[in-house]
Amino acid sequence: MITGARAPRTTELAQGDAFARLCADRGLLFGGDYNPEQWPREVWQEDVALMERAGVTFVTVGVFSWSTLEPEPGAREWAWLDEVLDLLHGHGIAVDLATPTASPPPWLGILHPETLPVDRDGVRLAAGSRNQFAPSARAYRDAALRIATDLAERYAAHPAVRMWHVGNEFGQVDYGDEAARAFRAWLREKYGSIAALNEAWDTRVWSQGYRDFDDIVPPRRAPYLLNPAQTLDFHRFTSDELRECFREQRDAIRRAGATQPITTNLMGFFPLVDGWSWAGDLDVIADDQYPDPAVPDSPQKVALVQDLARSLGQGRPWLLMEQAASAVSWRPHNLPKSPARMRLDSLQAIARGADGVCFFQWRQARAGAERFHSAMLPHAGADTDAFRGVERLGADLARLRPVVGSRVDARVAILFDWQGWWAGSEPARPTMRHDTIEQLERWHGALWRRGIATDIVPPGADLSRYEVVLVSHSYVIEDDAADRLRRAAAAGARLVIGPFSGVADAHGAILTGRSPVPLRDLIGASGEEWVGLPDDGVALSFRPGEPVPTTARASILAERLRTDGAEVLATFAEGELAGRPAVTRNDRVWYLAAVVSEDVLAAVLDAALAGVSGAVPDPPQGLEAVRRGDALFLLNHGDAAADIEVPSGSEDLLTGQRTSRRATVAPGEAMVLIERRTT
Ligand code: GLA
Repeated sequence: MITGARAPRTTELAQGDAFARLCADRGLLFGGDYNPEQWPREVWQEDVALMERAGVTFVTVGVFSWSTLEPEPGAREWAWLDEVLDLLHGHGIAVDLATPTASPPPWLGILHPETLPVDRDGVRLAAGSRNQFAPSARAYRDAALRIATDLAERYAAHPAVRMWHVGNEFGQVDYGDEAARAFRAWLREKYGSIAALNEAWDTRVWSQGYRDFDDIVPPRRAPYLLNPAQTLDFHRFTSDELRECFREQRDAIRRAGATQPITTNLMGFFPLVDGWSWAGDLDVIADDQYPDPAVPDSPQKVALVQDLARSLGQGRPWLLMEQAASAVSWRPHNLPKSPARMRLDSLQAIARGADGVCFFQWRQARAGAERFHSAMLPHAGADTDAFRGVERLGADLARLRPVVGSRVDARVAILFDWQGWWAGSEPARPTMRHDTIEQLERWHGALWRRGIATDIVPPGADLSRYEVVLVSHSYVIEDDAADRLRRAAAAGARLVIGPFSGVADAHGAILTGRSPVPLRDLIGASGEEWVGLPDDGVALSFRPGEPVPTTARASILAERLRTDGAEVLATFAEGELAGRPAVTRNDRVWYLAAVVSEDVLAAVLDAALAGVSGAVPDPPQGLEAVRRGDALFLLNHGDAAADIEVPSGSEDLLTGQRTSRRATVAPGEAMVLIERRTT
């Protein structure tokens, strides 16, 4: 089953409240991962003194401390953690206490080799790094539960502990025998009979018919292409299995009496877990974001990830759990972030709904695999530009306290289906150049440039609050999702639908008939073939009277379309599809039968977005404008000063200064304006 929008769980309100109370009490959270077990005690004193100086209010402790806490099976070394928590509490710093279960001690793999994951080639991964756990291995799960339970029983009532953090960046996949057993059980539960599975996977193709669930293995390395239905279910299984690991530990923490919010750090559009199916299990959405300073449009791309984080929490404030203070060390070539850029990135997260900004990590590691990864406090110490940047950010966040708890109100939604992304990413398609996330980024980018707030919605979500709904690419559109789109259009929303959507069913099998089967009535047009376009694309020609983009082209992928009632706004001007419709409009529904160039996309979106206002009219290039509650965030990512009209008498929360009718935001700078009435 493709996961659609779920009704809010009954516990959701209480969960949201716990995080809201924390932020109401502490202001915007500010801090990072803190790994004191890697440092001698003397350093801890310096740490807390510098944390206080920088305005740090919140640190995540213990993420990778399993072998320190449990050096021998069953041993418990709490003394250091007692001391650390007391020390932090004494300095007014709240703790997000982590279960250390992302990185088991080496002894676990030695005593229970089946806890070590196996890759798709059958290679068992060794200890010596981190994440070496097989999510389905009972011995791993039990050991993780024991340490999580003991940790929670010991510290649930510790006054420093204000949040719990389960594991870290759940994303481990296992193709071994433990996974095979669990996958079979998952399939049995889903399909009930092997006949139903054979039908769903259509195992007649290439002689894959299974006699019994016991015949099935994970999608391990095979001679040639795998059955996409098998791979798709394995994706779902892996996400569910990891979620079970999370849930087991979360429930153990609750059983121990913890009342604090419990979360884990997601990773934006990360392919191994379905964020929509996880979101209801997290008391607050926490997300790790590492935009690449070398990529010019990374502010635009990370804005999409931030909108996703907010949308996963159904609009509630979320937490930026990790980002880098400067360079990471895991890219082949790592560019630093300037302190100004680090500040702007952080303010961007707040603008887009975060109630806290944290880093990996507080103190830069001296040793280990991440010794060159930046941190809030670099190797060179506090007398550095980087640390002064951190202090500045701490002061900024304190000034932004009035935005705590406020929301971003979006009237535009973009559909994103995690499981459809998996299905649509399988190999052997008309083209491998068509990428769901790339298309999502392009469409969202067009809204970002206009300063238009956008929610990301799962298939089947209630769309009634949106004036415009965009489907940049959604390979699978099931009946409930199609119905929601139809109802939205009937209620007056404008829709723009991109190519190669509604192609397959929930098993990834192609829907037969003129395409896109679930949407063709809505778009008033239908297609009969998907065709890859030549490398340099093809020209489009617009009908007279339409705003004609100057370089209108289509590339990558197109559909051999005919209209069944829709108007044709543009046709293919050359090539295989010459004369065929490329852009159509059926009343309130626009359809793009190809991946179109930026100017065409902009023209279509402009038409569909008519009347939807951005946070400011026509933001200059590079200026990100976001309204969050009463605050107008202006973030200048560009190289030139941005001068715009603002409500006169606004106060910049960052400086306390009043603006007149115009505000100038210097390059790399930000303003957070609140209208103040002068009475
Ligand atoms: C992830 C992890 C951290 C650290 C950072 C480095 O976010 O959760 O432990 O490895 O990456 O960028």
